[in-house]
Amino acid sequence: MSYLPYELITKKKLGEAHSADEIRWIVNSYTSGKLPDYQMAAWSMAVWFRGMNDEEISVFTEAMRDSGDKFSFAHLRAPRVDKHSTGGVGDKTSLIVGPIMAAAKVFVPMIAGRALGHTGGTLDKLMSIPGFRIDLEPKEFEAIVEKNYLGMTSQSARVCPADRKLYALRDVTSTVDSLPLICGSIMSKKLTEDLTHLVLDVKFGSGAFMSTMTEALQLATLLKTTGERNGIRVNALITNMNEPLGRYAGNALEVRECYDILCGRTHVVGERDYYAPTRELSLALAGHMLFLVGKATSLEKGIELATLLLSSGAALTAFESLLKYQGPANLDLLPTAKEQADVVSNRSGYVRKIDTRALGLALIGLGAGRRTAGESIDPTAGLEMCCRLGDQVTTGQLLIKIFANSNSTFSEVSAKILSAIEIGPKPPDELLPLIAKVLT
Ligand code: URA
Repeated sequence: MSYLPYELITKKKLGEAHSADEIRWIVNSYTSGKLPDYQMAAWSMAVWFRGMNDEEISVFTEAMRDSGDKFSFAHLRAPRVDKHSTGGVGDKTSLIVGPIMAAAKVFVPMIAGRALGHTGGTLDKLMSIPGFRIDLEPKEFEAIVEKNYLGMTSQSARVCPADRKLYALRDVTSTVDSLPLICGSIMSKKLTEDLTHLVLDVKFGSGAFMSTMTEALQLATLLKTTGERNGIRVNALITNMNEPLGRYAGNALEVRECYDILCGRTHVVGERDYYAPTRELSLALAGHMLFLVGKATSLEKGIELATLLLSSGAALTAFESLLKYQGPANLDLLPTAKEQADVVSNRSGYVRKIDTRALGLALIGLGAGRRTAGESIDPTAGLEMCCRLGDQVTTGQLLIKIFANSNSTFSEVSAKILSAIEIGPKPPDELLPLIAKVLT
């Protein structure tokens, strides 16, 4: 069956539903190059405005999954679990959660993605570790998961090529934050991993693609339903991205934070441990995964076991083993920035709001993310949070430190960061918890 792209775009623009054949044709033609970028961009924008019904989303997700190779782990005769975040700033938990699960001897085949829009990507973080190999052949990836319990690979040209192309196109055409497109993108990749269980970290807030909790819940429900239709048991945590997670945002800096946490370190300033949110969320996600796959009899016991695997050093050993299998990679050579600067407050008051998306864009300005598909990034670029929502600050107080190999954008970026932090005379009306809701 062949269709006229113009007619299909018009159909979606008018809000009409596609047939399953039409959707499969769009995905397959885009993957093969028959449908050019400009028409796919127009169609994506029509979907952005008009949405898709459940049936369309399901066929779209399956067509993306079927656009390339799929992994096979059924011969392991044991659960395979992954976690996936919908994206945020400083969102680095995969590097802690994966090793905890491997330490519990649970298989985790993780396909990691690059930065998207203002959000960071696990793949870019892993690429900042000298020697770490992320482009594994499918057979090597399967062998590493089997031997090491944990493998982390990039979405190679052969895995979900439709999503790989569309992801890059959405990133530069402002069509990322669309529920059906996000659902298709995330779940198509997860469905190729041959999972039995999945835990989702669905973000809401100023640094998430879904800014309100209601939208995040809608997305979580959609992802969960799509997973369950395909035989995967899914739990979802709805988590707060109204400020960056933990201490650092930026690729090598985030790896450093995860390694410190795996080593049992804290970063206490005054009364506060800046590593606490990253540790807390990682333990919650791992706790859910352990409970889901039956390694713990309750969620509380799952979190207890995750805490033990972290504090005993077992998760650190699992991470070091990953560095050997996918390397040899050497954390001692993790690059550090040549330049750094302080962003200080120009008034006294309370930190009332943080525009976390603006901080994510400031990170791109520092070189930690991409403006156009394929642009190279500075692995050392990033920021360190030295304040949090609700803090009382005084004029001249350090709010955020910035890092990069070149300071050429520092003055512009510092101004953007300063205007992303709202300081006012009263504390914020409400501070939402890190984990706001759970869908089981
Ligand atoms: N993560 C993905 O993999 N895809 C999206 O579209 C958004 C977040």
